[in-house]
Amino acid sequence: MAKYKIAWLPGDGIGKDVLDAVRIVLDAIGFDAEYREGRIGWTCWITEGNPLPEETIELVKKCDAIMFGAITSKPPGEAEKELPEHLRGKVKYRSPIVQLRQILDLYVNMRPCKAYPGNPLNYKEGIDIVVFRENTEDLYFGVEVPEWTEELRKCHPDFTRIPVGAAVSFKVITRRGSERIIRAAFEYARKHKRKKVTCVHKANVVRAADGLFRTVFYEIAQEYPDIEADDANVDSFCQWALKDPLKYDVVVAPNLYGDIISDFIGQMVGGLGFAPSANIGDKYALFEPVHGSAPKYAGKYIVNPIAAILSAKLMLEWLGETKLALAIEKAIEETIREAPPEVRTYDWGGPKKEGQTLVLARYIAEKAKKHLENL
Ligand code: NAI
Ligand code: MG
Repeated sequence: MAKYKIAWLPGDGIGKDVLDAVRIVLDAIGFDAEYREGRIGWTCWITEGNPLPEETIELVKKCDAIMFGAITSKPPGEAEKELPEHLRGKVKYRSPIVQLRQILDLYVNMRPCKAYPGNPLNYKEGIDIVVFRENTEDLYFGVEVPEWTEELRKCHPDFTRIPVGAAVSFKVITRRGSERIIRAAFEYARKHKRKKVTCVHKANVVRAADGLFRTVFYEIAQEYPDIEADDANVDSFCQWALKDPLKYDVVVAPNLYGDIISDFIGQMVGGLGFAPSANIGDKYALFEPVHGSAPKYAGKYIVNPIAAILSAKLMLEWLGETKLALAIEKAIEETIREAPPEVRTYDWGGPKKEGQTLVLARYIAEKAKKHLENL
């Protein structure tokens, strides 16, 4: 019997292309796993009116970790139009990945942004920032009122200031939600010998919600006297990160700012083709590249698999397979430093050629295998 059961969810579009590439690498380093493929995404939505079939939820709960590709999402109106006649008006589209994060309580969204030396896409050499984005609260909590009413205006003194008919989205931040993401950031910093954790917020304006997040941040920081703690408003953080990204190390933020700054910093270290992520809870964890399903490239094996391969590396780390993770890390490092243009993908100066995803994956797999032998 294999040591691990891995839920394998390619999803839509290039999700399959990049997960096929991941398998080439995992097989090359002899990762001892049994892969259980699950259905998720747009195809499920347009055939059965549910992008996250019940059987998939059952499946992921039985596995040790989840590897996810990407899904296609569309606004509710458009989603409705693509349903077969008999399902229209009966079901409502909700992103299956957001659902999975909630069902499995994956409250940590970790996005390492590392400038691997020699990548011509690096904004600056030496950037090595790990963003911890809260994954269950804030504006993504989903309490929204499309049209404010007279009735609602009467519920709270401040609510009278909201005009009838206004669209209102609530931002919800709790002490518990803040504590667990902030602690995860500090624990990571300690474990990986990082020097500083920066809290990003907008507490000078969003005083209640962000104020609480910042207060909790400094409370928890006291438990980690060995790690420097500081904070910044999100606007000034962006300014400083652009001016001097090397001054940041681990960064923790509520959901929305975390989303924005991780895309922003991700772009400084190569962009979507290089950006991995981990969604982690106390019991389950799901690993996925940051990019989406890029439908125009679906099935062509043109895109960069590095984001997905680095996500698999995060999975190996989480499972405690440190050696295998290190072999991948070294292989990626070496690949980025010395891969000739003909094995690279188009976003990184290689040819826009079908099959290129797998060419690069095999190149990385060879290197990973070699590094593993020397570890
Ligand atoms: P996207 O990330 O799918 O693609 C945007 C563009 O970035 C692509 O056209 C391509 O030029 C480039 N790109 C993306 N991944 C790449 C890779 N691995 N290598 C090289 N270039 C790459 O974002 P877009 O076009 O906004 O969304 C497409 C679909 O994906 C939408 O339906 C969206 O809702 C969904 N999406 C899903 C996500 C997920 O599964 N977690 C995340 C983001 C978007
Ligand atoms: Mg995003």
